[in-house]
Amino acid sequence: MNHHRPTYHLCPPANWMNDPNGAIQWKGQYHLFYQYNPNGAFSATKHWAHAASPDLIHWEYLPIALAPEPGSYDKDGCFSGCMVVHNDVPTIVYTGVRPEVQCLATSSDDLLTWQKHPANPVLDESSCPLKVKTFRDPFVWKEADGLWYMAVGSGITERGGACLLYRSADLLTWEYMHPLLVDEEASTGLVWNCPNFFPVDGRHVLIVSGQPVWKPFYWSGSYEDHHFKPQTSGLVDYGGCLYAALVFNDEAGRTLFWGWIWESRPDDEILQAGWAGAMALPRTLFLNEDGTLGARPAPEVQALRKRQIVHTSRVVAEGQTRFENADGASLELRVHFAMGQAQRFGVCVLGAADGSEQTLIGYDVERCEVFVDRRQAGLRPTMAFNWPNPDYHAAPLELAAGEALELHIFVDHSVIEVFANQGRVLSSRVYTRGPESVCVGLFAQGGECQVDLLEVWEL
Ligand code: FRU
Repeated sequence: MNHHRPTYHLCPPANWMNDPNGAIQWKGQYHLFYQYNPNGAFSATKHWAHAASPDLIHWEYLPIALAPEPGSYDKDGCFSGCMVVHNDVPTIVYTGVRPEVQCLATSSDDLLTWQKHPANPVLDESSCPLKVKTFRDPFVWKEADGLWYMAVGSGITERGGACLLYRSADLLTWEYMHPLLVDEEASTGLVWNCPNFFPVDGRHVLIVSGQPVWKPFYWSGSYEDHHFKPQTSGLVDYGGCLYAALVFNDEAGRTLFWGWIWESRPDDEILQAGWAGAMALPRTLFLNEDGTLGARPAPEVQALRKRQIVHTSRVVAEGQTRFENADGASLELRVHFAMGQAQRFGVCVLGAADGSEQTLIGYDVERCEVFVDRRQAGLRPTMAFNWPNPDYHAAPLELAAGEALELHIFVDHSVIEVFANQGRVLSSRVYTRGPESVCVGLFAQGGECQVDLLEVWEL
């Protein structure tokens, strides 16, 4: 087995995966679809692949749901979209390309096979009076007035990324309303992909992924009379490897989140591996009091725990200590650090026994940030598809006096997900030189620090 391939993250069986699409709960199962190229581990000919799970953790691959139809409105791909239930019929709303047009597909056999709607495409760019650059990734929800609302990812020429708002009574005829948000500075991208717009903890949140900055942004604020007034913003994930979010309100009323974790190694290595892309673990979203968006791993993730291998507390002397009994490439770690003298402290994972490679995950007191530092990671991650991929990523995080740093880390071969206080998240990729680089340790720089709790599980 390729030692870089994740074992508990949802990955394509082979070939290429990108965005999560069309999540739904249907007859006791979660269903998740994703962008998929069945023809190889490269980005082309996008299909909707399909997976189902009783518990968000154990996924079964089901037959491909949507494939491009030669000569038709989706001949160049079935791009991202969402799922709604309209008049009891599960309905996919997706983008057919090229040009980018919105389309419907329905199922009458419990989501197994899909029929494209004869009225397709149901919406094209000419419906919008603005000069737009892209027109894709519909996200649809129902409001109290009984109408369907759709956010479309776009960009306005000579302005910036934009999310366009439409409405409809029947999913077939759509009325253009106005932009839900435009980035007039274009600092979050010239175009926005994969919008998600939803209420959480008393406010509304818009999430988009911006090109060509390749980051997932959010704004939280108020939504009245179909106008969104953002108050707070930030990144949904600060790790530099997550893009194209999908949010889904489940039957328990939770705001679930998935995102595409991309590869960050050269194309030839991806082709050689024969698979590309992983789905982030399911997360639940919440708002902090200051309006910033936070995420936690969904509680179901605990079902992955096989065995607890460490449960301890200790003082970490300045320097680095290895934990002999916590080695592994498939681990969950929970670490609580009390603030001490150390200026930089944390955990090392995916390390070589001789110290020649490792990834540091920790906190920098002076910079007030939680970080993933891959500068000593084995095979130095490089850019794929010209996406910016520096080896040091950080999320801003102010800790109150006396507040402990809480790190909750998932290591799954080449995938790392780090959750910290206030729901800050960093997703990262690390490609170790060999399967033996699995050492775990603690480090402290500029003084010692106190670990109040260290727990490690084998997953
Ligand atoms: C984002 C994206 C979407 C598009 C899909 C195509 O990663 O570019 O905007 O629908 O991927 O696979």
